[in-house]
Amino acid sequence: MKRIVSGIQPSGTLTLGNYIGAIKRFVELQQSLPDCEFYLFVADLHAITVPQEPSEMRRRIRDVAAMYLAAGIDPDRTVLFIQSEVKEHAELGYLLQCNTYIGELERMTQFKDKSKKQEAGITSALLTYPVLMAADILLYDADAVPVGEDQKQHLEICRDIAIRFNNRYGEFFTVPEPLIPKVGARIMDLQDPARKMSKSAESDKGLITLYDDPASIKRKIKSAVTDSLGLMNYDEEAQPGLANLITIYSVLGGLSPEAVVAKYQGQGYAQFKEDLGNLAAESIGALQQKYQEIIASGRLDEILDRGRDAAHLYASRKMEKCKRKIGLGRIRK
Ligand code: AMP
Ligand code: TRP
Repeated sequence: MKRIVSGIQPSGTLTLGNYIGAIKRFVELQQSLPDCEFYLFVADLHAITVPQEPSEMRRRIRDVAAMYLAAGIDPDRTVLFIQSEVKEHAELGYLLQCNTYIGELERMTQFKDKSKKQEAGITSALLTYPVLMAADILLYDADAVPVGEDQKQHLEICRDIAIRFNNRYGEFFTVPEPLIPKVGARIMDLQDPARKMSKSAESDKGLITLYDDPASIKRKIKSAVTDSLGLMNYDEEAQPGLANLITIYSVLGGLSPEAVVAKYQGQGYAQFKEDLGNLAAESIGALQQKYQEIIASGRLDEILDRGRDAAHLYASRKMEKCKRKIGLGRIRK
């Protein structure tokens, strides 16, 4: 059976970018692929590669898990768990580090960006982050990994690590395919459409979070940077701000970008922005309501316990075989 694996870090407030690029996509895959198995986790070990406030992070770990469910992840068809509760992730991460070169990690764009921003020391885990990510994926023999555009390079190194390991020790890891959406793989900052909308942005003016109230969602969309051309057109180069808004409308409204352009042809940006503000406020409002229901239901811990046990069962078997392949441990008579 094909297996699909993905995760999100609990490192900041979830954004509309996370929702469109990753969470919503995962839900759609689950609905359209009844024959696949789904593993989905909260990547808390990844979050601590940069400093985190412990009590804040504990809260966010639950938040991410609840938001996955609010978005429509089916808990009966998903192994939903917290990464640090399955110790094999860190264990395999180490074994894979022994098959990864410093040079290839230093070339990662995200490492270069993040280490530039880091004021205090840069941890060694920030460098080895993609190896842990490879462990998350290879541990479950994932066939496919749905992520946003920013993770493409990490998926490539994961494939390289798997292929190298297989060449060295014999076929062992499944080489995964990235699943990057055609529309919405990179939602941009509303104030600076050259930058990705990110949980770690300095200002929240260009950032819509999944916890924003309707008034601020509408306000942020209304004040989103566009251009002075006044033409309804999807052109990422010449009109990047508008293209980003069209993308958001397209995904939330279930229309192709061309259909959105056609719908608003000949109208100014104001009407389009107003409608998009309403659409986004409605979508996020519905998500928040479900989120509250999930928190109130008290089912989250039971789902996460079940997820942890199922993930551990798979991971521990794979890990044992992996150690044997490498030649670790004792000879068994
Ligand atoms: P992170 O917040 O870095 O843990 O990312 C979690 C998931 O959301 C990954 O699959 C990212 O690729 C995706 N993602 C994050 N930001 C964006 C964005 N601005 N547009 C589209 N996808 C995103
Ligand atoms: N690094 C990913 C991100 O920042 C999160 C992540 C960790 C992940 N492990 C993963 C995504 C495994 C997919 C598969 O977005």
